Amino acid sequence: RPRLKEIDSFEKTVEIIDKAKKIIVLTGAGVSTSLGIPDFRSDKGIYSIIKDLPLDDPQDLFSLPYFRQDPEVFYSSAYLVLPPVGLYTPFHAFLKQLEVRGKLLRNYTQNIDNLEANAGIDPSKFIQCHGSFATASCQTCKRRIDGKRIFKYIQNKELPVCPKCSAERKRRFEKNPDYQPRSFGLMKPDITFFGEDLPERYHTNIFKDISECDLLITVGTSLKVSPISDIVNKIPRDIPQILINKDLVDHAVFDSSILGYCDQAAVCIAKRLGWNLDHSDFKKISNS
Ligand code: OAD
Repeated sequence: RPRLKEIDSFEKTVEIIDKAKKIIVLTGAGVSTSLGIPDFRSDKGIYSIIKDLPLDDPQDLFSLPYFRQDPEVFYSSAYLVLPPVGLYTPFHAFLKQLEVRGKLLRNYTQNIDNLEANAGIDPSKFIQCHGSFATASCQTCKRRIDGKRIFKYIQNKELPVCPKCSAERKRRFEKNPDYQPRSFGLMKPDITFFGEDLPERYHTNIFKDISECDLLITVGTSLKVSPISDIVNKIPRDIPQILINKDLVDHAVFDSSILGYCDQAAVCIAKRLGWNLDHSDFKKISNS
């Protein structure tokens, strides 16, 4: 895809955002790092932090077969990516502004932290392509509960169990003291692990949204995981694409790249557009 040459400055980039009415915003872990949630592949990312775990590849932390085989590995480190309750970043406030101003076609997020909901974005306007911590499900009876109910187990590095299945397990154990399967009634956050399909809403919306959008903004992602990484190649050639990211993403063609912290970029763009970013809930914890 050849680059669209007309977006050659920050002012023109802001102008394109101002004119657009159906924006797809594709987000990744970089939009949440300012709240202390590590991204995945940076030097201080989660895959670097857990490199000494007994896994062939750090990505296997989110592998379904590994989880089934030994859930303790996931629960030994899941606290590292546990989202803060109720907080969101200036970038999420910017997303909310896009929605309020009728410009957000959809936010496709790879993030599992549910900060889109914290920012008050309408659930119809974002798709959590890799699921989220918002809910958790029992791997045995499939009962789904509010994800926050297992947060304390995650913080304590304990295995959360389904109360109903736990009672059943006890009953079976009383009958047969040898009965002790480790994963019976185990709760798992409804994160899409490698080996699981993306949520149905992704499949039902993505192709229509790609054909309708008039701008793609990609933010805080290395674009290394498909099918999300493929979205940039499926957008029609004449639709402008903007990147906002700390590092270059050189395996995709963007018409404009704003390299730096996405919160700062969001604040600058909003200021140029005269938008007020309400991010009073934002607590600056780490790096931006
Ligand atoms: P990555 O860690 O691969 O990429 C994060 C990107 O965000 C990097 O390019 C950073 O430079 C950039 N970044 C970090 N902080 C930033 C900031 N404050 N402002 C702007 N950019 C910043 O994370 P993702 O691309 O989201 O999947 O990873 C995609 C998927 O890989 C995840 O959803 C996860 C993982 O395996 C599952 O868990 C299923």
